[in-house]
Amino acid sequence: MPKEVFQQASEAIIDFNNTGLSILELGHRTPLFISVMEEARNLVRELMQLDNDHEVLFLHGGATTQFMQVPMNLLNENDIASYTETGTWSVKAIKEAKIFGHVEVSGSTKENNFTSIPRELSVSPTAAYLHITTNETIAGTQWFDLPYDCGVPLVADMSSDILSRHLDFNRFDIIYAGAQKNMGAAGVNLVVVNKNILGKTGRTIPSILDYRNHIKEESMLNTPPVFAVYVAMLTLRWLKEQGGVKAIEIRNNEKANLFYETLDSLPLFKGPVAKEDRSKMNAVFIIDNPAIEKEFLDLCHREGMVGIKGHRSVGGFRASMYNALSIDSVKALTDLMKDFARQKG
Ligand SMILES: Cc1ncc(COP(=O)(O)O)c(C=O)c1O
Repeated sequence: MPKEVFQQASEAIIDFNNTGLSILELGHRTPLFISVMEEARNLVRELMQLDNDHEVLFLHGGATTQFMQVPMNLLNENDIASYTETGTWSVKAIKEAKIFGHVEVSGSTKENNFTSIPRELSVSPTAAYLHITTNETIAGTQWFDLPYDCGVPLVADMSSDILSRHLDFNRFDIIYAGAQKNMGAAGVNLVVVNKNILGKTGRTIPSILDYRNHIKEESMLNTPPVFAVYVAMLTLRWLKEQGGVKAIEIRNNEKANLFYETLDSLPLFKGPVAKEDRSKMNAVFIIDNPAIEKEFLDLCHREGMVGIKGHRSVGGFRASMYNALSIDSVKALTDLMKDFARQKG
């Protein structure tokens, strides 16, 4: 996260905007907090250039809640939803969707251990929607050729690349993302929803899980996660100050290029992901020798680089290059990789 955001968030815990109150004790129905929520929603609208059909919500429960909330709102029990299977997160989304209706897998890269993104999709024209995970955080893959023309409503889990690059956001019918990577602290979800696709299943939806109620109550159906929404608002302000999504995309491209050019120049390190599908947010890499892998991890720790170890389910290494990470941090890592490779001869 950006340092400025840490600073402002910590000040607001002691004294929110010179009110003598902490953000942690601010009533969510007070004009003070209502204006935080409004600013956060308006910033998303502005940064994503959303049209009037799309509503912006801040909801509880993490992206995992969206795995079930999406099908609960969109998928009738007799209908089919189309899912792409590209890694751990989409597999979890598929499992939840099956509770509510039928699921077809319209494209999968399971056979190659999720090291690429499917090239061809086969989506039933009657599917209620197509679901993709735009960035698979653990596998280290990212969609670049987006299936805008799939012919059915498009739903995306953008938890790990939200607001990191310019996309045609209005062509998605639902976008959801946990805030904790590019948009702030854990505890809140961003959901962008095209209101025209709601209310078609005939299912009775519990009030708290029905998107229409959240739209009506402007994300204040019940007590929102006040602090997490505030931190998201600060992070969105920061992003706007950086020049918005297109400006951050240029920086993210520079970071990813630096990292992958280094990776490809060092035979000691290997990138398992197909080059054209490599994630610009989560670069996954390995060394083909567990003892040397451990040595490199220990070196990273000694040099103060944390979070380089790959996800426990896949091992290896993962360099996460979210919006707030500076190019200097990527340079520090790539310099260390070069030194280490030189030592190993
Ligand atoms: C792509 C993706 N989807 C979903 C999730 C789950 O998010 P949460 O822990 O907020 O439920 C994650 C978490 O890392 C993720 O990376």
